[in-house]
Amino acid sequence: MQQVSVANPVPMLDLERQYEPLKQEMLEALAGVLQTRQFILGDSVARFETEAASQLGVAHAVGCSSGTDALWLALAAAGLGPGDAVLTTPFSFFASVSAILRAGASAILADIEPSSFNLDPQAVEKALHSRQGAAVRAILPVHLYGQPADWDSFARLGRDHGFKLIEDAAQAWGATWKGAKAGGLGDAAAFSFYPTKNLSAAGDAGMVTTNSGEIAERLRMLRQHGMRRRYYHDEIGWNARMDGFQGAILSVKLKYTPEWNQKRRAVAERYHASFRNAGLAEPGPYPAHGVVLPRELEGRTHVWHQYVLRCARRDELRAFLTSRRIGSEVYYPLPLHLQPALACLGCREGDFPEAERAAREVLALPIFPELREDEQQTVVNAIAEFLS
Ligand SMILES: Cc1ncc(COP(=O)(O)O)c(C=O)c1O
Repeated sequence: MQQVSVANPVPMLDLERQYEPLKQEMLEALAGVLQTRQFILGDSVARFETEAASQLGVAHAVGCSSGTDALWLALAAAGLGPGDAVLTTPFSFFASVSAILRAGASAILADIEPSSFNLDPQAVEKALHSRQGAAVRAILPVHLYGQPADWDSFARLGRDHGFKLIEDAAQAWGATWKGAKAGGLGDAAAFSFYPTKNLSAAGDAGMVTTNSGEIAERLRMLRQHGMRRRYYHDEIGWNARMDGFQGAILSVKLKYTPEWNQKRRAVAERYHASFRNAGLAEPGPYPAHGVVLPRELEGRTHVWHQYVLRCARRDELRAFLTSRRIGSEVYYPLPLHLQPALACLGCREGDFPEAERAAREVLALPIFPELREDEQQTVVNAIAEFLS
């Protein structure tokens, strides 16, 4: 009987390959927390905060319970709340906007720039000239997929208008803008350590970084129910603390993250080369018959949290990859202005055409430091077959 060869499955992410070599180190770190019984904040979180601040080159790092809480804390500690508007992107994870609303501020959106998928400074300028633009007190750019937003433009807007700048750096641990690490670019930055992130916890965890001693002090107070002194509440904060186990795990993984990011960059380079060699790459920004590859734009170090290409027949391509047991994902299928929960923003279809187009065309391929060359070739071969 003739053998039909079916390529091995390629996972979107395989944390087992990260865990195996670090198992012993992680178990010892967790045992240390059990021994001290400092389950909430405590020494392991304090140590991780110090090490994280040093790796990012920022003055303060404040651990918290998730990236979503980190965004809320960053906004609240920077003094943004009722009566203020914060301008951000419609093409991100939901929390980029929901955290603004949770802080009591209103959210105003501006479209993205098609080659980076990040908030477009020109679209921001236009939004600022609109009627709603008058209430804007802050801009919240997202470093989507691991590539920093155009920070010179946002820094200039910040200076010209006196805006606060809050980075959503959830996907961008280690990314740089003109040599400066994400996390130290704005007034405050929010990171997520959700298990799929480049630096990930064994559960939910997040962090806010800032170079302002005043914001850092407010962050520490707000993450503990607004307490500076135990059981004396100066403000209505929240329970947004990081737990000791997460601090211990994150300290172990932090050391390896620069090397893991380098490996992700090598994986991205290999995808670029394989797609080009196969004659599938189109110049972009929009796809016709082939695929448009993601690009690292000038002045930035992309840390490739995701490798996201564009394809005109995206849904069909995804179904084809699934049939070949190749992982893929759509970040994000519905832009935020069209989410039912955000109808309160009063936006309509057609308001942000670039974000809407991206939502129809983007497809994230498997990328993680341990992804093997043969697995990548399987992905590229399958896409070549689909497009042929
Ligand atoms: C861009 C962005 N912002 C915010 C978040 C929220 O982080 P978390 O899931 O840790 O709450 C995420 C993570 O999913 C994200 O990708």
